[in-house]
Amino acid sequence: MKRRDFVRNTTLTALGATLIQPIAAIAESQVTHLTSDDVAAGADQADGYQMHFMAIGDWGRNGEYDQDKVATQMGVWAKEHPNNFVISAGDNFYPKGVVSENDPLWHYSFENVYTAHSLQCDWYPVLGNHDHLSDPEAQVRYSKVSRRWNMPATYYAKEMVLKKGMGKVLFLMIDTDPMLFEEKKDYVAKQLNWINDTLKNASADVKWKIIVGHHPYYTVGPRIKNYDTLTLRKTMADIFEEHKVDVYLSGHDHSLQHIKPQGFTHQFITGAGSELTSVTSGVEYSKFEASTHGFMYFSVAHNKLNVKAINEDGKVLYETELTK
Ligand SMILES: [Fe+2]
Repeated sequence: MKRRDFVRNTTLTALGATLIQPIAAIAESQVTHLTSDDVAAGADQADGYQMHFMAIGDWGRNGEYDQDKVATQMGVWAKEHPNNFVISAGDNFYPKGVVSENDPLWHYSFENVYTAHSLQCDWYPVLGNHDHLSDPEAQVRYSKVSRRWNMPATYYAKEMVLKKGMGKVLFLMIDTDPMLFEEKKDYVAKQLNWINDTLKNASADVKWKIIVGHHPYYTVGPRIKNYDTLTLRKTMADIFEEHKVDVYLSGHDHSLQHIKPQGFTHQFITGAGSELTSVTSGVEYSKFEASTHGFMYFSVAHNKLNVKAINEDGKVLYETELTK
């Protein structure tokens, strides 16, 4: 029962059955409190999509390297467009993560940078390599400090309802950095089992499967052929294909990219939250690449998924739509 219904029913029960008819209209008018259930996901938006979110990665640099400009533009975009939540693709805090849930970097690189009212929504982060250099669990614990920072574990799943009867979106938020280290193989094996099981057991009404991890498995940035990228490819490519994962969303290279290697999965890289790195154009599996500060904006309906790459001035640099 929604809270609004609960309030209404409780009020009417207390008044007694004989008074219900004349008082009902008054009781109805006294219900002014809307909860998130009344207005959250599932609402039909004017653009025809039921879910919208922004994605940003590689950002936490105390506002420098244009982090503050990208943050300001995200706030403007979320004010002017429907937006349900924000995904962070990792490397949330440079240079070496946070040491605790009380680390001053929470203030300098997150709370005091993404200040817009429109950004006080749920944030769903994953960890990057820099986040692993201090205490990665501190970012999980910060979920108890902040209302908007939602990281229940170092890897986790989130199922979101598009609209009643129109299906769901399954998000798997994964921890890719340990995949690069032999000594972390037990943790990685456990995580890979969880990824496979979660995808295999996805309910029939899941329309889109989206995996978010920090490291790309293909890129046209500086890491086009490096150990990180090749290891992620070796570890994850078959999983993406077997389970027909629609989108892999990552960061790590500091640019905006849409990559479509052979196979089912589209990859988007949104690592342009502060410092930039170069991109190579003309690679056959790249549909778009830009070494430009910015973020991505996703709009999802049961049969279409729209992605926009937006720069720090609010200009849409690239737009694509996946359909099914
Ligand atoms: Fe990284």
